[in-house]
Amino acid sequence: MTLHFAPEAASFPVATRLDAYVAERSFDRPTLVMDLDRVAIQYHALKAGLGRADIHFAVKANPHRQVIARLVDLGSHFDAASKAEIALCLTEGAAPSEISFGNTIKRASDIAWAHDQGITLFAADAAEELEKIAVNAPGASVYIRLIVETSLADWPLSRKFGCDRDTALALLDYAKALGLNPVGFSFHVGSQTRQSAMWASSLDALALIWQAARDAGHELSLLNIGGGFPAFYGEAIEAPTAYASEVMKLVEARFPGAQKIMAEPGRGMVAEAGVIVAEVMLVSRKSARDLHRWVYLDIGRFSGLAETEGEAIRYQFHTARDGDPMGPCILAGPSCDSADVLYEKRPMQMPLTLQAGDRVLIRNTGAYTSTYSTLGFNGFPPLDVVVI
Ligand SMILES: Cc1ncc(COP(=O)(O)O)c(C=O)c1O
Repeated sequence: MTLHFAPEAASFPVATRLDAYVAERSFDRPTLVMDLDRVAIQYHALKAGLGRADIHFAVKANPHRQVIARLVDLGSHFDAASKAEIALCLTEGAAPSEISFGNTIKRASDIAWAHDQGITLFAADAAEELEKIAVNAPGASVYIRLIVETSLADWPLSRKFGCDRDTALALLDYAKALGLNPVGFSFHVGSQTRQSAMWASSLDALALIWQAARDAGHELSLLNIGGGFPAFYGEAIEAPTAYASEVMKLVEARFPGAQKIMAEPGRGMVAEAGVIVAEVMLVSRKSARDLHRWVYLDIGRFSGLAETEGEAIRYQFHTARDGDPMGPCILAGPSCDSADVLYEKRPMQMPLTLQAGDRVLIRNTGAYTSTYSTLGFNGFPPLDVVVI
């Protein structure tokens, strides 16, 4: 079997731990196997490049208890999207001062609860959100999330989050008027931004807004550069340390006054530490003239592979038959739902000899899979997770 790891990972002996583990076992349902040592390697690699920036792991990427515990031990801080994610980080030993409540859409009672737990840093992109924070976490520090161009990312985060320049400047004033402490800005370049150079135009635009805020009398101290750090899905990416240090060079050149820099890697921290073990359920052709086979797996859009939406994230599939002749196929999940098709516009190359019962390994799937899995759609169990 040919293995395709990111260039930097290829030299890590622990990258083979996952293969050794899964080779010795059988699994009766799709299972994500996570290697905690690989998470640690990725943490150190990103930290080496990010330098003085604090890493706040984006918990949503993989909120497995043991992943969080390991990251606490390594010294990571955390970006939490909800009360449950904050509770998880606290339970696993993170200090409240190391957790930011980074979702711009928060329930008022959750803000109050977080405040009671000692959380002091909150995100906002709207006046009403600031009002909720001012009432439920009086005096808290807030950063304002800005909209940036994300079209270069493979998984853009769209206009759902953030606000424009003028709104952001007005929100800084409003936060102050509400008795809050507006400390800076955040943004997200879009998930799976494959090259560090793709950050430059967003950072250029942000630097102008940062300067405008300072000119208006705001003593900004925090720049939260969000996530976007890529994982290897088959297309070339820079190695994590090189990528992160290039991003930091771009940041330092434009924000010399930012005392505190936060980065929130999610995918780049955990994706390459996981492999999903799945199985072929059926190989078929719809007619004798059909150009492509259909290959149905026991995992699909509703059981962990949600990021195949729009065929945006193209995972790497490996089987024991990879040495056989390959041919294109439409890859689909097992549920009785016609949306449960993974790749059709750009068919996947799979061995022509593939048949029901064959094991399929889906590489670098440690991010945004386990929690995207439904609890029992069509009666299929959720993606199992095993940590080694
Ligand atoms: C606020 C915030 N920070 C960080 C991340 C992590 O992004 P990535 O997985 O691209 O590193 C996300 C992802 O949605 C996010 O919403």
